[in-house]
Amino acid sequence: MPDSRPAGTGGRSIGAVIFDERTIAQRVSELGVEIAQHYRDGDLLVMGLLKGSFIFVADLVRKIPRPHEVDFMIAASYGTGFRSSGDVQVRYDPETAVEGKHVLLVEDIIDSGNTLNRVSLLIRRRNPRTVEACTLLHKRVAKDLEVEPRFVGFDAPRDFLVGYGLDHAEDFRHLPFVASIEE
Ligand code: IMP
Ligand code: MG
Repeated sequence: MPDSRPAGTGGRSIGAVIFDERTIAQRVSELGVEIAQHYRDGDLLVMGLLKGSFIFVADLVRKIPRPHEVDFMIAASYGTGFRSSGDVQVRYDPETAVEGKHVLLVEDIIDSGNTLNRVSLLIRRRNPRTVEACTLLHKRVAKDLEVEPRFVGFDAPRDFLVGYGLDHAEDFRHLPFVASIEE
């Protein structure tokens, strides 16, 4: 019998689709407009936090109808587990000039908030004009966020989610929708 699971899923199964492709596209377009309306003047730098945000950033920036720069940082804390280790490592930092610019940090999902806290402290030290955050998904469990995201795609269930850039052990990022995964 051929195995019908997608290649490379390590035997994990996808549960329910939580946000489908159309729903995500619609909300991403709205976020782009909200962001453009918020930043009336000044230089805007959209800083995606890799790897999870790569699809979201690619879709989002095409919906922000005002000039802006795009860059990325890599911060990681999960390894192959389902929970944040709390030890956030910045693995790639382009050290793009941020002084005097509006910096918009873009996350795929906020769970513990450790990643966003770590990166926002780092960016703040470089004298940006403002630091705000945008996340596609917010689990609303994080306490003591350094930056409460101003732009939120969706409140998310507290399940472990995959797809649209989100992974489990590097699988499932390519899925065009967001789904839960059986833990
Ligand atoms: P936090 O530091 O706990 O807020 O988690 C932030 C990062 O962990 C996100 O950028 C994701 O890469 C990853 N993450 C958190 N929750 C999930 C999830 O449910 N599915 C996949 N990745 C997640
Ligand atoms: Mg991840």
